[in-house]
Amino acid sequence: MKTYMITGASKGLGEAVSVQCFQEGNHCILVARSTNVALIERAKLQGAQVTSISADLSIMEQLPAVIERVFSEIGNSDELYLINNAGVVEPIKPAGQLEQGKLELSMKLNYLAPVILTNSFIDKTKDFTGKKTVVNISSGAALRPIHGWSAYCSTKAGLEMFTRVAGLEQQKEENPVKIISFSPGIMDTGMQANIRMADEKDFADAELFQSYKDKGTLRSPQLVAEKLFRLLEGDQLENGKFYDIKELI
Ligand SMILES: NC(=O)c1ccc[n+]([C@@H]2O[C@H](COP(=O)([O-])OP(=O)(O)OC[C@H]3O[C@@H](n4cnc5c(N)ncnc54)[C@H](OP(=O)(O)O)[C@@H]3O)[C@@H](O)[C@H]2O)c1
Repeated sequence: MKTYMITGASKGLGEAVSVQCFQEGNHCILVARSTNVALIERAKLQGAQVTSISADLSIMEQLPAVIERVFSEIGNSDELYLINNAGVVEPIKPAGQLEQGKLELSMKLNYLAPVILTNSFIDKTKDFTGKKTVVNISSGAALRPIHGWSAYCSTKAGLEMFTRVAGLEQQKEENPVKIISFSPGIMDTGMQANIRMADEKDFADAELFQSYKDKGTLRSPQLVAEKLFRLLEGDQLENGKFYDIKELI
């Protein structure tokens, strides 16, 4: 049995990744604040084992309990996957106008939660000899500055460096966890809808992002999830590497 732990599984890319997980024999542990009831029904119809955990990953005090719950569900698995996907693009505003509360939420959800989950995954699976993989969902914004996105860019950049360092460390282990970044490119999800709602004063590229939607250049999360799963099926993953959807299409 393969077990996939997927954060932000209720919508967007996380929902599409969950659908890829729903194959007979897989166990899919879905984490988000809300429960996508239709998605869980679909899992059952397809013969997948599904566990839905309702949790706000930006509340640090609750993370230890979430981690205990997730790992208590693993059972007898041959392969373990953690897909750190939950994220927010907000706050979209130039530095100097950022609200502390929104900054903290971004840092906690986009950076601290995946770092803490990856750290726990490495620790809790140290005696597990099967294939074990962590995917940190990244972004082109981890590598280049975007006006108005200092919070998002810096959290994704921080997570990217964490992934590289943890991947480097794992290379020395006898029984390593493969830890990679995966950049899904621009996708037609709720996050893009939120980006298009940003004020032009706060976000210099507002028109450009509107044009992605108008010209139909946003990728479907389903296509991206399929490519991610094909990537994970192989045995050639390079520890710490930044994989970009553009190189997989
Ligand atoms: N869309 C793009 O163009 C794009 C481009 C590059 C990278 N990405 C990255 O891809 C990933 C998925 O993005 P998306 O576009 O699919 O976003 P989305 O449609 O907004 O979905 C975000 C997911 O995260 C969950 N989430 C949000 N806040 C949470 C919290 N506090 N605790 C737990 N779960 C939470 C949401 O579920 P609930 O609301 O139910 O909690 C939802 O399932 C993100 O890491 C994003 O940075 C997206």
